[in-house]
Amino acid sequence: MKAQVAVLPGDGIGPEVVEQGVRVLRQVASQFGHAIELREALFGGCAIDRTGQPLPSETLDASQQADAVLLGAVGGPKWDPPAKPRPEEGLLGLRRELGLYANLRPVKPFAQLAHASTLKPEVIQGVDLLLVRELTGGIYFGHKQREPGYAVDTCTYSVVEIERVVRAACGYAMSRKRRLVSVDKANVLETSRLWRETATRIVRDEFPQLQLTHLLVDACAMHLIRMPASFDVIVTENLFGDILSDEAAMIAGSIGMLPSASLGEGKRGLYEPIHGSAPDLAGKGVANPYGTILSVALLLRHSLGLESEARAVEAAVGAAIGRGVLTADLAHAGTRAASCAEAGGAVLEALARGES
Ligand code: IPM
Ligand code: MN
Repeated sequence: MKAQVAVLPGDGIGPEVVEQGVRVLRQVASQFGHAIELREALFGGCAIDRTGQPLPSETLDASQQADAVLLGAVGGPKWDPPAKPRPEEGLLGLRRELGLYANLRPVKPFAQLAHASTLKPEVIQGVDLLLVRELTGGIYFGHKQREPGYAVDTCTYSVVEIERVVRAACGYAMSRKRRLVSVDKANVLETSRLWRETATRIVRDEFPQLQLTHLLVDACAMHLIRMPASFDVIVTENLFGDILSDEAAMIAGSIGMLPSASLGEGKRGLYEPIHGSAPDLAGKGVANPYGTILSVALLLRHSLGLESEARAVEAAVGAAIGRGVLTADLAHAGTRAASCAEAGGAVLEALARGES
């Protein structure tokens, strides 16, 4: 097949982890006989430095023309407030412009990383959950205002915005264990009451085979570390999903392990690890590239329709980890940690050998 992928390395450790993701993508292309054309573009803080804008129009064009976008991370102390514009505005703008309202954050820990988690092995045993985060609405995109003595951020949701992301989550739940947990704060927030009503209606009218449970976000935060294996699919609004997914990353041993896929109506998607730009680690070659490489697997699956290639990449990451190629965030105490490039190299080798 033929495909075009826009590559946005971004800031901090972004370029280092994306370099490994790109190596994997290139190898998949040559090994499985696909023509995947990569087009790199400026995005985030480095784009502000060069063009004054975090999302230059060439980058938006390249992303709109591509079948998929692979992104590292954006931001860093150099562009911290009160600097304007900010790198994060570029990321929100890109998600919004591409209409990517459903952000999938799967959490399926590798058994060999149990030691790296802060949770007990028996708690994380058997976890396989999918967090679906609404990505283009809520408090991230509401009216904002700053005055000398006060500040405003408003949270707004329309029925249509809730319906489409809940439907997407229901679709995924149908192909999994058919259990959906909708997370809100309906005891306090009006938007959450609308969320709960809408989720209830969509499941009742369109997905009656699903078991739907509502959880308040505070309780969900607790249950996520109390009994994470009880979850199948979680659907929630933008800010709650941002927070809960960082928490859920600890189940996988490190925030460096979690991939994400952001999707809208078509097949085009944006793929990025859920971690940030980690400026303190940048340039040292020590970052964990597995979250980015697993994001490449999601890209192959969701945007390019290459399921067996996606599985091969996931299996290769498992094989690299199984062989003990662990970056500093994952390494056993007292052992030598693998570099970012060594971890990427171990995945390439496993891929070439067809290991699983
Ligand atoms: C994420 C990040 C972003 C978000 C930031 C960088 C704007 O934390 O993708 O989870 O809050 O969505
Ligand atoms: Mn986040």
